[in-house]
Amino acid sequence: MSSFARTLSLAALLSLTQAHGVILNAQGLRGSPASVAFGVNPELARNCTAINPCQQDTGIIRDAEIAANIVNECGRTELTGNIDIGENTENAIAAGAVTQVKSGTQMTVTIHQVNADGAGPYICDLIEAGNNGVISQNLTVENNVPGVNGFSQAKTQDFDIRVNMPEDFKCTGGSSGKICTVRCRNNAQAGPFGGCFPVEQVDIEPNVNTPANIETKLSLDGVFKQVANDVADLPAAVAAIQEAGSDQAKQNAAIVSSLLKQTVTSAPAPVLTPSVILGGNPTTAVTATATATASSADAAQPTETSNGGDNGNGRGGNGGFGNGFGNGFGNGFGGKFGSGRGNFGNKKRAEVFVA
Ligand SMILES: *[C@@H]1O[C@H](CO)[C@@H](O)[C@H](O)[C@H]1NC(C)=O
Ligand SMILES: *[C@@H]1O[C@H](CO)[C@@H](O)[C@H](O)[C@H]1NC(C)=O
Repeated sequence: MSSFARTLSLAALLSLTQAHGVILNAQGLRGSPASVAFGVNPELARNCTAINPCQQDTGIIRDAEIAANIVNECGRTELTGNIDIGENTENAIAAGAVTQVKSGTQMTVTIHQVNADGAGPYICDLIEAGNNGVISQNLTVENNVPGVNGFSQAKTQDFDIRVNMPEDFKCTGGSSGKICTVRCRNNAQAGPFGGCFPVEQVDIEPNVNTPANIETKLSLDGVFKQVANDVADLPAAVAAIQEAGSDQAKQNAAIVSSLLKQTVTSAPAPVLTPSVILGGNPTTAVTATATATASSADAAQPTETSNGGDNGNGRGGNGGFGNGFGNGFGNGFGGKFGSGRGNFGNKKRAEVFVA
């Protein structure tokens, strides 16, 4: 038996109790691209119930594992472990595979029930900031997958459920500043099973982050618990990463990757440096709503003569910083280069590319 085959059977033995439902597709606005759940691999067979391969890319999303800082809100799959929401979101954006939504959009979400406890009911919720760990709203589900406590006798079957976006929400995540993460999972004892997928909101202006407008906070108790968990888990985590870095493990991973034809579309990310107000008093800086005539790096205070509109006239003297704050923070970049650029009122994002 090859060592690859040995690895497979060991993994299969370790995960005997699993069973699953996978989110294969999510469609929001008609004509927009479809999303696929994070971690789902289109190359995996869907016509079997075996743990390997047919259960390998199901999301397992357990509150206890999230609380223990073993995984984040989208859980893990057997094949890849923790699902990095940010990484998967950016991959989906680069691949043009993010479905679009608006206030009240009814999405069609296709759930593949692998075997008995991938059944319904599924419960869906929303992370409006994408990956900040805050489940901000529950979503209504219609036409749920049949089942009680996550069980039914259906297997290898696809079900289309309807998931409704709320009337009132604001997606602020991802590099595009308008991505939410939708999470759906059932209530099976061996699960919960399900997954997360990204949606792009098209009826809002994209969010632009500044360090100061990040609202998430963790309680002191939460921080202590997280530290304690991480310290306790560190030895095992260090050992696991050493193992994963071994030649054998790398070879196995390469084989899996080639079997599953795993590819990631890469798109270059722009280099942006938001301008900041220098030398001013903080109160003015925080409440500045428009920019007019900052003329060099050391002319720090914006004079508020613009009507918040379309003229963020920042001129950077000697490569200094202009002050292009359009319409209340977050929207004015620029002024970084000699002649600076305006045009970022009305919440338009200025894209400053530095090759
Ligand atoms: C199951 O699906 C795989 C591809 O996903 C295919 O290669 C295989 O032939 C199918 N098996 C059966 C029995 O239909
Ligand atoms: C979602 O619903 C559950 C169950 O009723 C509730 O415990 C939870 O607080 C709700 N979450 C939010 C973000 O409203």
